[in-house]
Amino acid sequence: MTQFEQSQTLKRLPEQFFAKLVKKTQQLEAEGHDVINLGQGNPDLPTPPHIVDALKMAASNGNYHKYSPFRGQPFLKKAVCEFYKREYDVDLEAESEVAVLFGAKTGLVELSQCLLNPGDTALLPDPGYPDYMSGIALADANPAFMPLKQENNFLPSYKDLTSKVLEQAKLMFLNYPNNPTAGTATKDFFDETVSLAKKHHICVCHDFAYGALGFDGEKPRSFLESEGAKETGIEIYTLSKTYNMAGWRVGFAVGNASVIESINLIQDHMYVSLFGAVQEAAATALKGPQDEVRKLAATYERRRNTLISGLKKAGCRDIQSPKGTFFAWMPVPEGFTSEEFANLLLEKAHVVTAPGNGFGTHGEGFLRIGLVRPEDRIQEACERIEKLGVFN
Ligand SMILES: Cc1ncc(COP(=O)(O)O)c(C=O)c1O
Repeated sequence: MTQFEQSQTLKRLPEQFFAKLVKKTQQLEAEGHDVINLGQGNPDLPTPPHIVDALKMAASNGNYHKYSPFRGQPFLKKAVCEFYKREYDVDLEAESEVAVLFGAKTGLVELSQCLLNPGDTALLPDPGYPDYMSGIALADANPAFMPLKQENNFLPSYKDLTSKVLEQAKLMFLNYPNNPTAGTATKDFFDETVSLAKKHHICVCHDFAYGALGFDGEKPRSFLESEGAKETGIEIYTLSKTYNMAGWRVGFAVGNASVIESINLIQDHMYVSLFGAVQEAAATALKGPQDEVRKLAATYERRRNTLISGLKKAGCRDIQSPKGTFFAWMPVPEGFTSEEFANLLLEKAHVVTAPGNGFGTHGEGFLRIGLVRPEDRIQEACERIEKLGVFN
């Protein structure tokens, strides 16, 4: 077969770190082992039935069989505004401050192309969700990493950023509740972010993918709740985790009108918007009853409790109990790297976890454990880890 060479743009894309892990997991499963996969961030529960029913009904609406409006259905953008008002008391203007996305991932990757020129600088968390880097690489821009350390509750320490980096940076990615560390943001932190961004003319992109998943009675804050936030950036929200709709590919960006216009512009050239019936079901999700969302957060909270008590019993005393997301960030025992320990758990306990260094150099020394399996499987995983006796 003739090999056509990839463009320089594609060659800049970072390696898919977790591909090796997926392959090894599949191998063990193919050999017939009972593998407990806590390595991925794929919600395991179904979309609430009233949302599926809305899609079924809407699928037969002939209007939706045509092209959707390029910039998304006005009723979905209105539903987004209602959602932000109801959940966060944030006012948004539907046509200028909301962009409909094919999932958060698309928006997070295309944003760099919207705002960065080759050689520009973007600030991003380390460890962090890998797709921020994908967008930066496609834009041929440079990353400047902000370490997320346990001693700072996994928030970046702005005072450690040099004035040169702050001067150069055009864009900053943040994500709370945080993947992979499960850290959460405070009002003070977001307020500090707004003033830093204003002072240095940096556009903030807050990835709010786990916005619905707060524990112990704490509701995660939206970045847009901070005064002046809309002046300084956007927030990206997805229905993937809130409503178990990861396969549906629905998300949206909200906030600064100039950034929303740029996102809409790039999307005018790349896509026609989502299938109308999906947009109608998404509006149903945002506007309809939210009891399933509360039940979902309670389910993850119970799983968290099972995991944390099981791992403490196994001897992992330093693990912090996450206040949000569906992840826990576990320190590895002394004498192991993240990869060595993840390999040990995979090979000896058939428990899949994600080694922290896959999310950045400051992820070294940790594993990310997903709460995306039922409680009895999480319990079983902890018992298998306890049997290894590695924490003693
Ligand atoms: C932090 C973070 N942002 C964004 C996404 C992507 O969400 P979506 O399914 O909407 O593309 C994920 C998915 O795992 C995530 O963990």
